[in-house]
Amino acid sequence: MKKKILVTGGAGFVGSHLCERLVQDKNNDVYSLDNYFTGSKNNHVDNVTYIEGLTSDIAKLINFNPDMLYHLGEYSRVEQSFDDIEKVWRYNKNGIFAVLEFVSKSGL
Ligand SMILES: NC(=O)c1ccc[n+]([C@@H]2O[C@H](COP(=O)([O-])OP(=O)(O)OC[C@H]3O[C@@H](n4cnc5c(N)ncnc54)[C@H](O)[C@@H]3O)[C@@H](O)[C@H]2O)c1
Repeated sequence: MKKKILVTGGAGFVGSHLCERLVQDKNNDVYSLDNYFTGSKNNHVDNVTYIEGLTSDIAKLINFNPDMLYHLGEYSRVEQSFDDIEKVWRYNKNGIFAVLEFVSKSGL
């Protein structure tokens, strides 16, 4: 049975490299949840399933129970974030809350 691994922010810098590494193991089914705020489709890696959307909507967008979840889908530009407080709040605070709730309900 393959392991289902979900990477939030899988189209970003760290997430795309992580996906690249994870798909090398044929026992892994790798999924990314990304809203493409700073991520790019140019970072897509073969054999990863890409789901577009906000982490705050994770419960609506992910219809399976992952065996493992890496959470990298965050507003990550530190300097820029001071001019973008509302977005940081929405992306990071609402996002992490929904991710933790999802993880807790998935029984991970
Ligand atoms: N790059 C580094 O050197 C470094 C060092 C320490 C920690 N980190 C942390 O690792 C994480 C990833 O960093 P990165 O450098 O890959 O940044 P990045 O901006 O390249 O990647 C973040 C990804 O998350 C996506 N994203 C942002 N908010 C989202 C949301 N609410 N819902 C869904 N997707 C969302 C973006 O579109 C992007 O693809 C961040 O939390 C960052 O603070 C990075």
